[in-house]
Amino acid sequence: MAKKVLSGIQPSGSLTLGNYIGAIKNFVKLQEEHECYFMVVDLHAITVSQDPAALRENSESVAALYLAAGINPQISNVYMQSHVPQHAELGWIMTTLTAMGELERMTQFKDKSSGKDSVGAGLFVYPSLMAADILIYNADLVPVGEDQKQHLELTRDLAGRFNHRFGEFFTVPEPYIPEVGARIMSLDDGTKKMSKSNPNPGSYIALLDPPDVIRKKISRATTDSGREVIFDPANKPEISNLMSIYAECSGMTLQQIADRYEGQMYGGFKKDLGEVLVATLEPLQQKYQEIRSSGALSDILAEGAERARGVAAQTLAGVKEKMGFLPLR
Ligand code: TYM
Repeated sequence: MAKKVLSGIQPSGSLTLGNYIGAIKNFVKLQEEHECYFMVVDLHAITVSQDPAALRENSESVAALYLAAGINPQISNVYMQSHVPQHAELGWIMTTLTAMGELERMTQFKDKSSGKDSVGAGLFVYPSLMAADILIYNADLVPVGEDQKQHLELTRDLAGRFNHRFGEFFTVPEPYIPEVGARIMSLDDGTKKMSKSNPNPGSYIALLDPPDVIRKKISRATTDSGREVIFDPANKPEISNLMSIYAECSGMTLQQIADRYEGQMYGGFKKDLGEVLVATLEPLQQKYQEIRSSGALSDILAEGAERARGVAAQTLAGVKEKMGFLPLR
């Protein structure tokens, strides 16, 4: 049966291979069978300071990357979070249902706030807004990487809490986390997540990196001192990470990769991985350029937002009725 699927990505810098493998690839897969809502979550991005020109550029860029990666706006709703104001309104309501202690336990908040003198309150209540994003469409499935699992658990708790307090209303959503590739690691440190906010660009592959940069970054990626291409995340985190990337971008299994490179050293494996990535990203980059120069994006985003607003407005009206807000007229 067709399910409702929702997910979002922040426009807070260049998207990485981690975003692609952990999230976007699954968006493309799920849209074939399900009713999908894919947002660019600009309201989340501003929980840390954003330069206005960069925010605008990154917002368009993420939307264009969605389409370039294969999201089809004829069957999926693609839009900006801020174009559907009901997200912010339900976000506030969710904030009132969330306990301070729940937010204090969020590892993403701890990571992003640690060592900072001043932390915006938006960063703290970020997970309540994320819960609203999901619940406002009564989404069944939320495709995300592993780092979002804790936020999903809070969302499930908030849905249950609302239903318990005000009567059965929200669908309790399930995370959809890939088995391989749910946590793509940094190229310079196999114990850290690949992240667009890492100040060292050599630590990640950006989806818009030119082919030669991709090849160079892979050839320079840290590997352990052994020589065998085997999947063993506990003892060989770096090579295991590169194998996951290889598997996700080539369609081969980890075992097939291990067999292919048996008895060989890392050099040949890395060289081939560079080519696998170029073959994956070059067509995407070409489509991206076409979409950016076509001028079609603003209509696509307007249509996506209009459809999303229709659904969101209905849910919000139901929420308000359940909670006892006085109706207008
Ligand atoms: P964001 O923008 O940090 O990341 C977008 C998606 O990419 C996944 N991801 C990764 N997956 C595997 N390996 C990695 N190294 C990696 N880095 C990032 C993330 O898990 C995510 O799925 N809070 C969300 C945005 C959001 C959202 C939502 C998601 C807002 N509202 C509602 C789902 C539903 C975030 O910061 O993602």
